[in-house]
Amino acid sequence: MDNITIKQILDPVDPKRFWLHYWGKKHLVIRRNVFKTLFKWNDFSNVMNNYPDNLNHLQVLDYDSKGTTWCLNKVKTGKVKLPMLSKEKLFKMWTSGKTFVLPSAEYTKEKFVAICDELERYFSRGTVNIYCSSKKDAVGFPAHSDQTENFLFHTEGKVKWTIYENSAPNREHGKVVDEFILEPGDLLYIPQYMYHKAESLTPRISISIHFANKKNQSLKKFAITAKGKGMYRPRWNNWIPENLHFNKKGHKTNEVPKRFRMGGSNWKKTYFNNLKK
Ligand SMILES: [Fe+2]
Repeated sequence: MDNITIKQILDPVDPKRFWLHYWGKKHLVIRRNVFKTLFKWNDFSNVMNNYPDNLNHLQVLDYDSKGTTWCLNKVKTGKVKLPMLSKEKLFKMWTSGKTFVLPSAEYTKEKFVAICDELERYFSRGTVNIYCSSKKDAVGFPAHSDQTENFLFHTEGKVKWTIYENSAPNREHGKVVDEFILEPGDLLYIPQYMYHKAESLTPRISISIHFANKKNQSLKKFAITAKGKGMYRPRWNNWIPENLHFNKKGHKTNEVPKRFRMGGSNWKKTYFNNLKK
């Protein structure tokens, strides 16, 4: 499995500096290109073409233009009384500009598992939610705060972010303290409870990887779990066969044996010769 370290995740910000100055206190924007390809439009297209299979948690925000969220799982199980959507209808909703959310998407990419695996040394178990919008000004969330520590990896388009001075349980978000535009490759850290807002300026993909804090975690008594010793997370397996061919001696080889290659002893030109006739 890909081994990703906290140093790579926060680069060029030193992890110690992050814990001392930002964790739980201040938002942080890191601009670089390392995680630019975490989840791109073709990944979204591949996932969505599975609809309605393997997409239990799919959500459509503002499904009815009255603020209702449509959730495949809840519709299927009858928890929410909304109609089931055909693939074509869902696609129309997408092209009309609705925002789609792919929650609990940890296992759609090896790198998501690797990032969770590393950050779970410092936090509790993580979740990956992918926010995708096909248009500018797609409906997202108004100013709100979350109960988790949030790492937002931006991979497609541009999103304007607004950060407010207050944190929950304050009822009001208060004054704007920062506004900025995230572009592919950028990472934004938002401390838990801090009020924030995201607005799509173009079609976009934002990946939220969020974690609850460990119980009693503090700078004075800072607990770091050894790699691989954290709470149980099923590992990422590489299901691609390692050796697809055997050589003449019966040894495994990744290369196609010569006799099967063009011009090899098993190569017959008859097919093409026939074509010439
Ligand atoms: Fe949020």
